[in-house]
Amino acid sequence: MNCAERLVAIFGSQAEVARHFRIDRALVSNWVKSGYVPSRWAMEVEHATDGRILATEVLNEANARKPIRLKSRGEEDSLFGPSLAGSDTMNQFAPAKRIQSFHPPQRTLMGPGPSEINPRVMAAMSLPAIGYLDPIFVEMMEELKGLLRYTYQTRNPLTFPVSGPGSVGMEYCFVNMVAPGDKVIVCRNGVFGGRMIENVERCGGVPVVVEDTWGEPVDPQKLEDALEAHPDARVVAFVHAETSTGVQSDAKTLVEIAHRHDTLTIVDAVTSLAGTPVLVDEWKIDAIYSGSQKCLSCTPGLSPVSFSERVVDYVKSRKDKIHSWFMDMNLLLGYWGATTRTYHHTAPTNSLYALHEALLILKEEGIENSWARHQRHRLALKAGLEAMGLKYLVKEGAQLPQMNAVHIPEAIREREAEVRKTLLTEFNLEIGAGLGPLAGKIWRIGIMGYSCKPENVMVCLSALGSVLSDMGLPIHVGEAEAAAHGAYAQLHAKAAQQKKRVQAAA
Ligand SMILES: Cc1ncc(COP(=O)(O)O)c(C=O)c1O
Repeated sequence: MNCAERLVAIFGSQAEVARHFRIDRALVSNWVKSGYVPSRWAMEVEHATDGRILATEVLNEANARKPIRLKSRGEEDSLFGPSLAGSDTMNQFAPAKRIQSFHPPQRTLMGPGPSEINPRVMAAMSLPAIGYLDPIFVEMMEELKGLLRYTYQTRNPLTFPVSGPGSVGMEYCFVNMVAPGDKVIVCRNGVFGGRMIENVERCGGVPVVVEDTWGEPVDPQKLEDALEAHPDARVVAFVHAETSTGVQSDAKTLVEIAHRHDTLTIVDAVTSLAGTPVLVDEWKIDAIYSGSQKCLSCTPGLSPVSFSERVVDYVKSRKDKIHSWFMDMNLLLGYWGATTRTYHHTAPTNSLYALHEALLILKEEGIENSWARHQRHRLALKAGLEAMGLKYLVKEGAQLPQMNAVHIPEAIREREAEVRKTLLTEFNLEIGAGLGPLAGKIWRIGIMGYSCKPENVMVCLSALGSVLSDMGLPIHVGEAEAAAHGAYAQLHAKAAQQKKRVQAAA
């Protein structure tokens, strides 16, 4: 009997062997079929059988069936001597499954983020690693800060990317600006306002929640009323672009109201930045954070933030110890501040190259052109979706260009996950599901950053239309596509007229 057969005999069945080794039964069956146990299981086999099958028996048998290929250089030539006993091949923690390099498919990303990434950004990310205090890297950091100021439309000196996703940027603002006992008014009209409340509570603050219906913008009057009822409030926080519903709130008005009541403001611009105007200086926003993976179309994991001098002065003057070491602005200033570059944490250098490139692409396009592009493709997408009979959750005027939430037709609500799955598996297209109370009721279709292009709009209409039509809905894909083309044609005509007017005036 070979070792595989002996194992089955000892444990009673292939299934028992599989259970014992915590592996798939198919793998054991494969051992039996091929007549040997692969050598990397040798130690495990000896151990599991209390030495009834020795590791050397497994190794000899495996080697006879599948000889180890000789390296061009013998072990004795190795600078470090022979490899250590118990190295990877025999290590008990080595995964049972044979693991190969990961090759993700190329998807069309039209969900709530991440968006697709420009190949220039991917190329930048794969450039050689250098130290985070290397003078060349430090030069790049200054450019990065400048590009971020442009993106946020601000002169705030303290504008930089926090290492971590948008949630870290959110937490960074709250941890630094909310001391225990501080009253914070949080406007909630979706998932992410809820996360702000969590942050206030975890900082020991007292949240006062201004509720608005999901899908509607924050009501300025409600904020005004809350501030009048709570004159001791220190901070007002709200989400500019609620990704969970696709609604945009009037950030300028909300900040104005907050300032009239002498509070600081924290604004979530994770989804809005670069997709729709975010004018930090003009709107006098005190603290703002965003994410790298939405309309900036960079790899996820960085959160650009910007703080007014008023916030920096406040944080510097805090007498209590900020309860997160990593997030303490006073400490991080040593790395990202204006004058010094000292070690705080190991900055994610290659991701920062990527953000530099993504922001450079944005600068080359022009931020106003980026806002206009998102608006243009939204009009075409909307024309197509409405031609299919899909209705928007948010009323016109408050709709975000980059995040389109549509009601799922009643007739197929039960099968909504199947629609998304078919889009993914058959069309390589990702769209987003609803969250919280809107789960199963809406789809969220994102056109963010590099994903915001005509071919994506058309692929989405054609794929979604055909899946819905296959499910029996009375949808004509051609009509949806024609509606989108019609919208593009109108926009082109308008642009041509505008150009003529400008030329005539010159
Ligand atoms: C509005 C908003 N805020 C915060 C976040 C959290 O960002 P991240 O997922 O990058 O941590 C998201 C993520 O989608 C978001 O849409």
